[in-house]
Amino acid sequence: MPPSHQLAILSRRSFHSHRLVSSRPVPLAKYDVNSLRRVSSAAAAQPQYAQNVLAAGGKSALTPSPLSDEQKRFLDSALRVNQAGELAAVLIYSAQTPPIVRTHPHLLQLMKHMYDQEAGHYKTFNEILVKHRVRPTVMYPLWKAAATTLGWSTAVMGREAAMACTEAVETEIGDHYNSQIRVLLDWAADLEAKGEDFGPEMKELLATLRRIRDEELEHLDHAVMNDAKEAKPYELLTNVIRGGCRAAIWISERV
Ligand SMILES: [Fe+2]
Ligand SMILES: [Fe+2]
Repeated sequence: MPPSHQLAILSRRSFHSHRLVSSRPVPLAKYDVNSLRRVSSAAAAQPQYAQNVLAAGGKSALTPSPLSDEQKRFLDSALRVNQAGELAAVLIYSAQTPPIVRTHPHLLQLMKHMYDQEAGHYKTFNEILVKHRVRPTVMYPLWKAAATTLGWSTAVMGREAAMACTEAVETEIGDHYNSQIRVLLDWAADLEAKGEDFGPEMKELLATLRRIRDEELEHLDHAVMNDAKEAKPYELLTNVIRGGCRAAIWISERV
């Protein structure tokens, strides 16, 4: 791990800028993207560091500081989970797209858009893992099979089930990214109090996590707008998928 890391507060991209399909009202019951956004806002509401960076012309005037061993362990497991999760997302959309587009051709653009973003996320975390010498999870083969099965089976169940799958996955992954962003901001605040900061690599990582988090929440929006709530059985399906996501995250953090 390079000796210095710096944190920056970069502007959050609006995930409302990519509405592709429907403008129908979204039923809000059990749609917890708002809670994710509140977390996002709370995480972003630590402005002092950003003000310091901006006052220094975008460059922190604070002294760079290395990560502690505990922080390195956190990053190691967090990045490993992120990479595995993005691979799973790519495989889910790959498996869902043919059956969904066959029966609902108008969804081709949306499915391609979400797939392309997931492929970009996966590429990003592959590069980050190499850069930071983080090993992938040993569960890779199992996650690949599970993601493909999940994508294919929900697509065969129908458009609503496929969208419910996206809603469930993106709810968990959005929360997961928010947790990481909160931790990095806490580190920044602690270092700032000591007159230190992270360095340019952490600055870039935080910006990357925020960008990807926003894109995941955009996918969540698309799923709800495309009748995820109409899936049957919605409760069972989303609860099982969300539970599976949490289990996969927990395991991938450790092995
Ligand atoms: Fe993603
Ligand atoms: Fe996503």
